[in-house]
Amino acid sequence: LSGAITYDPGYKNSGVCKSDITFLDGEEGILRYRGYSIEDLADKADFLEVSYLVIFGELPTKAQLEHFETNIRKYTLVNEEMKNIIDGFPKTAHPMGVLSSLTSALTAFNPKVVNVENEKEMYEAICKTMGKFLVLATWTYRKSMGYPLNYYDNTKGYVENFMRLMFELPTGPYKINPTVVAALDKLFILHADHEQNCSTSTVRMVGSSHAGLFASISAGVSALWGPLHGGANQAVLEMLEAIQKDGGDADKYLAKAKDKNDEFRLMGFGHRVYKNFDPRAKIIKKAADEVLAELGVNDPILAIAKKLEESALVDPYFVERKLYPNVDFYSGIIYRALGIPTDMFTVLFAIGRLPGWIAQWKEMRVNKEPIGRPRQVYTGHPLRDFAPMDKR
Ligand code: SDX
Repeated sequence: LSGAITYDPGYKNSGVCKSDITFLDGEEGILRYRGYSIEDLADKADFLEVSYLVIFGELPTKAQLEHFETNIRKYTLVNEEMKNIIDGFPKTAHPMGVLSSLTSALTAFNPKVVNVENEKEMYEAICKTMGKFLVLATWTYRKSMGYPLNYYDNTKGYVENFMRLMFELPTGPYKINPTVVAALDKLFILHADHEQNCSTSTVRMVGSSHAGLFASISAGVSALWGPLHGGANQAVLEMLEAIQKDGGDADKYLAKAKDKNDEFRLMGFGHRVYKNFDPRAKIIKKAADEVLAELGVNDPILAIAKKLEESALVDPYFVERKLYPNVDFYSGIIYRALGIPTDMFTVLFAIGRLPGWIAQWKEMRVNKEPIGRPRQVYTGHPLRDFAPMDKR
């Protein structure tokens, strides 16, 4: 452990856990999955390879990767009765709320995933989750648009399928843009795991009661939805659009973010752990320039984001509090350039984070960790006598 935290084996599961999956150093801005730097993985691996690494601990051989993808493909068909559930939602429902419900509902159609007894059942549950979650994530968008729901095409790649599942219409084949697939693949890798963040801790907590994998992932989706966590990528875009609509004056909004009497916060800035640049933000910022140039997109929102970052990095308020851009600050700009609607941004965060949630759930179950039970410091009333009604 980094030394800043002490693992107290004396108090079971006091909220600090041990894990072999992800190392991050907030002061130095370092992030590694199973010892490999995020920079290397984002540059040299693809999302399924990194998913395998995060979940099983090693970069896969060619045969292991093929076996993993073949087994995911075995489970990409979602029970048709799940459509009755999604039909119950209004078109205006937020995709994260729909996704959390659909993921939990998977248990009803796959009861065996609740209590995996051995490695084989664990592997099957993992492949089922990787396969079905992606399809359900896109169904939330299709439902909101009134489009027919698409099916995974087992002849195509995982990330390519995401774009087809989202945008292919019965009126004709969807033309895949390799630049878009490569950009999404990189973004999913950058979101794959992040040690004990809010949603991952939720997945571990729910899973520690031996609730099943789908129920635990569903809880993680709900936690990620919040604008202080994964919902920030949507909040960043809404903030940048509001600044643009208000004349594009970045410094005016920087002043608002510093004003204690103003509710406004600079979304996409600050972090519970990183007190330096979020290494993912650096990679995403560079990718934003490259992807928008390759797609020939000139988005004035990017210029506003860069101006905000430039001013904040020299502003004493942000410097003293070590507030830097985080993973959510630039990701939405790329998603928007790829044609992803704003309210789907956090769903994409969830797709990227899925292997991390699975890996952490698996680690907690394989290590037979006790049920999560954080304690408290009681600050309420000391013992007092009951007050009858006429004495209250
Ligand atoms: C993610 O944990 C993870 O790893 C999460 C994540 C992952 O991969 O899973 O990295 C993903 O959730 C990234 C964070 C996305 N959220 C946002 O971008 C929302 C905006 N950021 C803030 O809400 C805030 O920075 C948090 C929630 C991210 C962190 O909160 P902290 O560490 O509790 O910070 P704090 O509230 O203690 O703030 C310290 C000071 C305060 O000022 P003072 O009371 O000292 O005067 O900094 C100020 C805060 O008011 N501050 C901000 C600010 N963030 C903190 N002021 C203006 N704008 C901000 N964004």
